[in-house]
Amino acid sequence: MRYLPAEFPLEPGIRYLNHAAVAPWPKRTAEAVQRFAFENMTRGAARYPDWMAVEQNLRERLAWLINAPCSEDIALVKNTSEGLSFVATGIDWHAGDRIIGIADDFPSNRVVWESLADRGVAFDQVDINAEADPEQALIDRITGDTRLMAVSSVHFATGLRMDLARLSAACRETNVLLCVDAIQSLGAVRFDLDTVPADFVIADGHKWMLAPEGLGLFYVNPAIRDELQLTEFGWAMRAQAGDYAPGDWRPSPLPAVSNAAAPTCSGYMRWMPACHCCRRWDSRLSSVCCRTISIICGNGCAPFPACRSSPPKPDPNGPAFSRSALPATIANESTGH
Ligand SMILES: Cc1ncc(COP(=O)(O)O)c(C=O)c1O
Repeated sequence: MRYLPAEFPLEPGIRYLNHAAVAPWPKRTAEAVQRFAFENMTRGAARYPDWMAVEQNLRERLAWLINAPCSEDIALVKNTSEGLSFVATGIDWHAGDRIIGIADDFPSNRVVWESLADRGVAFDQVDINAEADPEQALIDRITGDTRLMAVSSVHFATGLRMDLARLSAACRETNVLLCVDAIQSLGAVRFDLDTVPADFVIADGHKWMLAPEGLGLFYVNPAIRDELQLTEFGWAMRAQAGDYAPGDWRPSPLPAVSNAAAPTCSGYMRWMPACHCCRRWDSRLSSVCCRTISIICGNGCAPFPACRSSPPKPDPNGPAFSRSALPATIANESTGH
């Protein structure tokens, strides 16, 4: 505990013994934000390519944190709710489909699924508090119509930690998609896609990842990426990056620069991994916490491996978005600026 006051110089009288809400920023996070603001004030966007490199670096670190095959499987979103909404609005639901969730889960992880009722999608809410075996209670609700199970890795109010390996095994066996809201654990509890092969992992950075609000991780299983329809559009999502000419366009095949990432690419909070290394902390912190700190420090406690799978390449023969087929707002966006 001795190092904490230096890194968390809270006012006298304020003590964070734990938090399930919004963490205080570590000193280095605050310094990185200040540096980025100062750079914008004094140099504008002169180092824009470096900002893009920082963003890529961040996605590599987040991929490493959850053991994703590739940084291209990670998109940056503005919060957990946005990532959950991308899943809820992006899946091609059919009337009669069912979703399983936790009855008293955090509202973000309920309202998105409830919002699908008018499309004929039922949200089966399981009261896990009443169950001796919460995971089994969720698994028992799977039927032939279940398309997705949505759970929080740790319950925001009770602190119940789900056995995600068990849930993911059951979902794989029954061909049900697994969507994990990992905000209450990521950074404090190890998450490994090898042992928990979830289809979606989403977490804002402002809890155990010790970041400010407004920047989160969104992982999509590459095997089902194409099943997720684009529901948000922006200039940076086109495969023809840098080509602002009007006309037909193809979305990038990467979630990192399509769908959710379009707004993030347009440029806020690239400061996150910009501070200096904290390798000296290694001996004092758990390896998971060390990983987390390394994310916000920009220099890892271990080298970051290259992608385990090749990032997808744009398909030149794939379907193009035709201007005439697009709603007016999208057509206007595609004219570039
Ligand atoms: C399980 C869970 N999901 C999501 C959130 C917050 O969502 P967002 O990142 O959209 O603010 C919280 C906040 O307490 C939470 O506990």
